[in-house]
Amino acid sequence: PGKRNYLIGGNWKCNLTLDGVTALVKSLNSAGPIPDNVDVVVGVPMPYLSLVRSTLRSDIEVAAQDSCVKTFGANTGETAATMLTEVGCTWVILGHSERRAGFNGHAQELRKGESNETVATKTKLAVDAGLKVMVCVGEHKQERQDGVTMKIVGEQLAAVKSALSTADWANVSIAYEPCWAIGTGLAATPEMAQETHSEIRAWVAKNVSADVAAKVRIQYGGSMKAANAKALLSQPDIDGGLIGGASLKPEFFDCVNGVP
Ligand code: G3P
Repeated sequence: PGKRNYLIGGNWKCNLTLDGVTALVKSLNSAGPIPDNVDVVVGVPMPYLSLVRSTLRSDIEVAAQDSCVKTFGANTGETAATMLTEVGCTWVILGHSERRAGFNGHAQELRKGESNETVATKTKLAVDAGLKVMVCVGEHKQERQDGVTMKIVGEQLAAVKSALSTADWANVSIAYEPCWAIGTGLAATPEMAQETHSEIRAWVAKNVSADVAAKVRIQYGGSMKAANAKALLSQPDIDGGLIGGASLKPEFFDCVNGVP
């Protein structure tokens, strides 16, 4: 089988005014063709999802940055997975470390982060609603220093595995985002990232199936930018990126064009 299609995701996080969104969409729309072997998706703040879907070029997919409750009903402030599909959203980012850690900037009592089980439940709900999921995993700095990276990532993946059927994995991409590399400017080296990506693929082979392991995409996230994208994306087990800061700039397309 050929190499998996690359998946380059932009995660806009909680950024951009309406003017900023309009400008970014304009720049993406004029950024030139997307290579045939790349799927591109942008993760958009909820209030802008509908606008972005209706103004963005159709060969870039749109993701929500979180969701999902199961269905309509008494869940004030929540978004149902079905609402996302209603506005043309085809992906959702789940389990981002910023959500696992709890909200920033709120009162302490609101800071309860999402557990592995919560992330797994949401992943299943999203897939069942027809969404594709970028599910984020990754270790903290201390955990890497302690040599327990794959223990932590394995636990995160094991929860997801328990929630999904084998067939569900066709709609899941794993985003490996080492927490120490997020927003720090200190990306993992291509060798270090490749090592963990290959361990993640081996985990999937052992615990899900060899077929899923061969097909599942594993994106790297954490200070990916034009300057390092090419080297990261040339690694055999790095199938794309999930890009934060650099996805707000024209530089995002340098990453898209950085695939081998
Ligand atoms: O989800 C993407 C992310 O957490 C990486 O952010 O700003 O380091 O590219 P950044």
